[in-house]
Amino acid sequence: MALFPAIGFIWIVFTVNWVLVLVSASWCPHEYLRHSTRKFEQKVDRFWEFHEQSNTWVEVKLPYDLVSCVNDNCTKVGSIHQMTKDKEEQLLDRKRDDIDTNQNESFKKDGAGERIDEGIETVLPQRKRVSLTRMSETSIWVTGESGSIYERFWNGVQWVIAPHDLPIWAGHAIHVFIVNQTILALSEAGILYQLQLSENVQPIWVEFTPTVDPKTNKESEQSSAMPIKSGVVSNDGVRIYFCTHDGSLIELSEVAPPRWANHGRPPGANVAAIADAASIRPEIVYTISSIGELYEYDRSSKPSWKKHIWTEGTTKGASLAPSRGCTLHGLSGDHSASLFLLTKDGKLVERRLHQRKWKWIIHGSPEDQHLTSITPVVYDESKEKFMSLFLTTSLGSLFEYRLPKHTGISQETAIPEAWSSHMHPPDAKAARGFPGLQLQVGRLLFPLDDGRLAELHLPGLGGEDKGPNQLINVRRKASAKYMWSVIETPETEGWNAEYCKEERGPMNCISGVKDEPNDSGSRPMIRRRKGSQVKQDYLLTEPSKQVDSLEEYNYPDKWISTNFHLRMMHGGRSFFLITDDGMTFEYLYTENVWLWLRHDHSTPMKGALGTYNGSLFLVDKYGSVFMRERSVDGLEWVNCSAMKKARQVIGGPPWDGIPGKAMKVTAEDALFFVSKNGRLMQFTVALRKFKWKDCQNPPNAKVASIVDQELFRENVVFIIGSNGRLYQYNKITGLWHEHYQSQHLVLSRLPGTAVRPSSMSSTGSLFMLSEDGGLVEYQWNTGEGWNWIEHGTPNKGVILTTSPSPFFERNQLFLIGSDGKVYMRYMDQFTWKWKNCGFPHVGKLDLEDQEQEGENNENDEVCMDKDFAASLEKDAQNFDHENCNPKVASTRPIPFSEDSVIFELRDGRLAEMRRIKDTDWVWSRTIGTPTSMCLANYWTAVAS
Ligand SMILES: *[C@@H]1O[C@H](CO)[C@@H](O)[C@H](O)[C@H]1NC(C)=O
Ligand SMILES: *[C@@H]1O[C@H](CO)[C@@H](O)[C@H](O)[C@H]1NC(C)=O
Ligand SMILES: *[C@@H]1O[C@H](CO)[C@@H](O)[C@H](O)[C@H]1NC(C)=O
Ligand SMILES: *[C@@H]1O[C@H](CO)[C@@H](O)[C@H](O)[C@H]1NC(C)=O
Ligand SMILES: *[C@@H]1O[C@H](CO)[C@@H](O)[C@H](O)[C@H]1NC(C)=O
Repeated sequence: MALFPAIGFIWIVFTVNWVLVLVSASWCPHEYLRHSTRKFEQKVDRFWEFHEQSNTWVEVKLPYDLVSCVNDNCTKVGSIHQMTKDKEEQLLDRKRDDIDTNQNESFKKDGAGERIDEGIETVLPQRKRVSLTRMSETSIWVTGESGSIYERFWNGVQWVIAPHDLPIWAGHAIHVFIVNQTILALSEAGILYQLQLSENVQPIWVEFTPTVDPKTNKESEQSSAMPIKSGVVSNDGVRIYFCTHDGSLIELSEVAPPRWANHGRPPGANVAAIADAASIRPEIVYTISSIGELYEYDRSSKPSWKKHIWTEGTTKGASLAPSRGCTLHGLSGDHSASLFLLTKDGKLVERRLHQRKWKWIIHGSPEDQHLTSITPVVYDESKEKFMSLFLTTSLGSLFEYRLPKHTGISQETAIPEAWSSHMHPPDAKAARGFPGLQLQVGRLLFPLDDGRLAELHLPGLGGEDKGPNQLINVRRKASAKYMWSVIETPETEGWNAEYCKEERGPMNCISGVKDEPNDSGSRPMIRRRKGSQVKQDYLLTEPSKQVDSLEEYNYPDKWISTNFHLRMMHGGRSFFLITDDGMTFEYLYTENVWLWLRHDHSTPMKGALGTYNGSLFLVDKYGSVFMRERSVDGLEWVNCSAMKKARQVIGGPPWDGIPGKAMKVTAEDALFFVSKNGRLMQFTVALRKFKWKDCQNPPNAKVASIVDQELFRENVVFIIGSNGRLYQYNKITGLWHEHYQSQHLVLSRLPGTAVRPSSMSSTGSLFMLSEDGGLVEYQWNTGEGWNWIEHGTPNKGVILTTSPSPFFERNQLFLIGSDGKVYMRYMDQFTWKWKNCGFPHVGKLDLEDQEQEGENNENDEVCMDKDFAASLEKDAQNFDHENCNPKVASTRPIPFSEDSVIFELRDGRLAEMRRIKDTDWVWSRTIGTPTSMCLANYWTAVAS
């Protein structure tokens, strides 16, 4: 809706000589250049000085004074000293310490220099909602970091994705459990949902509350709130053990009718995680308390809870990480069982049961590695000499730990070469702290930190295009080298491939019918490109490379006003204009008349940065964000910069959606802004739960402008860095990525525009300007991947001066030339063409630069409507040459409806172009504004 009050406005007629009354406000000088308290650390002992006379560098003797001279007046500002022996020794000592503490661990480097260089690798954040659950060989259920649930299944032809999200009110999903034929999902709030399947009806999630009385330990009719934290399906697959938020162990042994049991908690402790559910011995559950101790629960013994204490002397203080363990049988004899667990400091330990005796065995970790999860692997035990565990480290690498079987000898100290590293896929890391899943022998699936999945498999045995049920006669050779294949998922729009999903597949995604090779030219084929190319497209940027002193981008004068001068509010009915004087006007159609409505504010405004749900977000001259919204008592200003963690901003997203297209509303809706110090700021606006988040900047550049927010790729914001290069930020994972870009292409630090013809496919493009004023396209399609295309300029001698308009009809785009003319770039029969639409004027123009216009007449096909031309001609007699200049100003144009676009003219008026049909666009009217001295009477009113 337009921001228009039903009552309380005054009608005033303004004429040409209308003068604006400005709210006077004193400009505070911005104090950018505060003294920085940065400290420099001296790391070397040799310095050189340039000798002007000899034109050479001469090494200086230390200590050396640093002197600053102004007009021959020199003062000492600092000095360089010899690095003290102590310091060097300290460094060495620290290194020695590192080696010593790791002496007891048996990790040997796996050949090719895989030791992780700290300072480059960073510890990954702990994601919250990731899980993988296997339903069958052909179906894996995944919860993603965004809280989504999707199934990846093999339809007989290819792997496809089927979404199974919880309803919005249920919140985010964090896990899926499959027991017998029942599918349960756990939400972040601790509530279970059951997927109800019935014929001919879409499956729905319905709440499935535990009916167990927390006090009496008996089932009760009343459902009591026992929020669930996590759960594990028992080894025999017929029951689920859950751990509740308040630290109890509960069990679901039957779904229909539900049968629950509350097993309570160990005496004096709680259940923080279930380590093993009945795989060591039937009906016995092993749990870990939050302080890190192992407990055993056996309902048939008295007492039911037993504690497994550390008896071995050397292991004092080892406390276990509350996470799921992994059980292997037969490591030291047929009847032995081993429960592998991780300690809080990231080491692998084993609790082994052999000949009725328990013992602890410490396996440690690879050098410098902190282990965060264990992925069990099942083998055809009779064939294998080794058993393996796969462990994910805090840096996102994968290590395999091999254990020999049945050797009979004591294996209390691990064998050398036990650890080998599988690293991680190129430009991606394994998600920290989540176990992977074995699909088949030699095929493991892991969640990645960036939201995708990856398969670690033997060559020829896995990857996107390999289904299950292949004849596997793998006698897994110890030497066989695993390889990584990356799998696209719905979590990660913005990556390098399509995924197949019911509503987006041109291929028959769900039913698995082979796609006939029919007009394949226009059908996106699901083919992955070769590995090396993928790597080039998309570069993971490492936060720890961050440099403090990144070059600031100096915005040209009026950067905000040329880019955020106009903003559409309500298609065809209302848009906003922020004047150079800082006034906010809304141009509004109401009661059969167009009028200007003034929205007064105590500080002058600079630009309109976004709209959401009927509210407008503006930035004032101090960089504060204000929201203009309608409330019960009329219109209100809300100071968003007064909220916690706000920063001063200078830019926002280019567009608020696609005209004529409904926006998907989610509980995570946010506007993204560029802060004055070059960071990306996320301002959550959904459901009025306002919240600022600093998304920082790419490691090697500041954020200069936002190219696109989530129109091209869901959850992804594309930005241009201060260095003129393209980056993207993923809202779900918080990760920055850099796109491959030629050194020679420097982008202009302007907003851009995106075109994505169909939400069914990720094919589409971003359009931007290059620094030298040419049009640049960055395109993605399934066949070729990412591609840069330079469209150049419409004419020699003309450069483009503003960011592109949005797309119309998927193939028409408007740009403004340095000659004050509008140029349309459009696709005609698969060929891109330029069309000169000129500016809204007929006849001779009596302006100084008229000469120069005569030069390129060839492609002049000024777009003019007959009636409008006639009216212009009539006006031409009293054309006020002093105050009127109908050339188009370098203000970013806005869409007003699906076939209308608004430009600003150099004299301050606005002009509209409309689409008549296909690619026929004409100038249809000019609009007088309260700030233009040229022409026109108009209505204006003050909003209250
Ligand atoms: C040199 O600079 C210092 C501090 O900037 C000032 O106090 C002093 O008067 C100056 N001397 C001359 C000779 O300009
Ligand atoms: C290594 O292990 C030995 C016993 O096996 C122990 O005495 C020593 O303290 C350990 N060293 C370190 C650095 O943990
Ligand atoms: C699964 O099926 C088994 C055998 O039919 C049954 O005993 C068990 O209760 C079922 N489990 C659940 C959770 O429904
Ligand atoms: C092939 O394409 C044509 C035209 O697009 C369509 O009419 C026909 O049904 C398609 N055939 C198959 C087998 O999909
Ligand atoms: C839209 O605005 C209305 C009125 O202020 C509010 O009740 C509603 O929650 C908003 N919707 C969203 C998705 O923010």
